[in-house]
Amino acid sequence: MNTFKAYRLAGPSLESLQQVTETIPVPAAYEVLVRMRAASLNYKDNFYLAGDQGIRLPRPTIPLSDGAGEVVAVGAGAGRFNVGDRVAGVFVQDWLYGPIADHAADSSTTLGHGIDGTLAEYRLFNQEGLVKLPENLSFEEGATLPCAALTAWNAVRGVRAGQTVLILGTGGVALFALQFAKALGARTIVTSSSDAKLARASEAGADHVINYQRDPDWHHAVRALTSGHGVDHVVDAVGPDTLERSIQATRREGVVHLVGLINPAGRIDPMLILGGTVTVRGVRVGSRELFEEMNAFIAHKNLHPVIGHRFSFDDAKGAFERQLSGPEFGKIVITW
Ligand SMILES: NC(=O)c1ccc[n+]([C@@H]2O[C@H](COP(=O)([O-])OP(=O)(O)OC[C@H]3O[C@@H](n4cnc5c(N)ncnc54)[C@H](OP(=O)(O)O)[C@@H]3O)[C@@H](O)[C@H]2O)c1
Repeated sequence: MNTFKAYRLAGPSLESLQQVTETIPVPAAYEVLVRMRAASLNYKDNFYLAGDQGIRLPRPTIPLSDGAGEVVAVGAGAGRFNVGDRVAGVFVQDWLYGPIADHAADSSTTLGHGIDGTLAEYRLFNQEGLVKLPENLSFEEGATLPCAALTAWNAVRGVRAGQTVLILGTGGVALFALQFAKALGARTIVTSSSDAKLARASEAGADHVINYQRDPDWHHAVRALTSGHGVDHVVDAVGPDTLERSIQATRREGVVHLVGLINPAGRIDPMLILGGTVTVRGVRVGSRELFEEMNAFIAHKNLHPVIGHRFSFDDAKGAFERQLSGPEFGKIVITW
């Protein structure tokens, strides 16, 4: 059998997600054939299914940016990898180091957007678009890293021991940010709409928790927890809806890492940035170089991603339905 199963998403609906059979490709020079073993979903995948924010795939595309698998064949000159290596794909395939290149900022080289993604039994990559998995992680844990984890690492990698980090929500990015910030020696404050999720965040290492629905002025509570000064860093995975309060929860010369666009509408008062002498930093996922740095940190600290639900390859639609039904505590993983 030289065929494999994959899914292709033809339009913004779950009905448009169809399983297809395709021919297993042979790697050309500098290419690597990966037998995919697991994939995971992210908030952004809702956009492709629901057509939110005008985001549409340019053509029937194999969905999902995040996945991990095993190298089964390498083309001539593909010396970065050997058969048997356990690997994950880089979110923006040609973003190797430094800031994102202008040509890549339109997502044309992003897995599961401009090019085919990971929801397939086999996937051919250019060798530059892969990293080795941390040794301590399973395939399904490794499959959660390319988007949410790398974004969180990009946000918090500069945190120093003893600093205080505020993390908004308990979504995919937030839970990785919590794990990384704790492992870097920070004091952490987590907000959530759910007391049950806050209890789990405490188990995962949050030093202080705040229910943002009961306490919509949570920035005051954050200041109170920091002797009135504010936190050193905020990981804001929500967006304009929370940004003003994130700035007001931050100490002088502190940094708000703006990651989220759950609610892209809204305006902020720029005087809060100036008056507070706060830096607001836009974060977009990360380069291959940061991915490799993060993987070394994960292995060194023996961190394990939080997985919420597992689905089989043949029940991939179930995974998308679960993702669309609302935020999960822990990543949704498809495994095969
Ligand atoms: N910039 C980038 O490169 C990048 C990369 C990855 C993700 N993102 C974006 O980051 C956002 C989060 O992604 P995700 O994968 O972490 O999503 P997710 O797993 O669906 O989590 C979303 C979380 O947002 C929290 N939330 C919603 N409204 C909130 C509010 N007013 N205050 C505090 N928390 C609130 C919820 O927390 P509770 O359930 O605890 O209330 C929910 O768990 C999305 O907009 C996504 O597109 C951006």
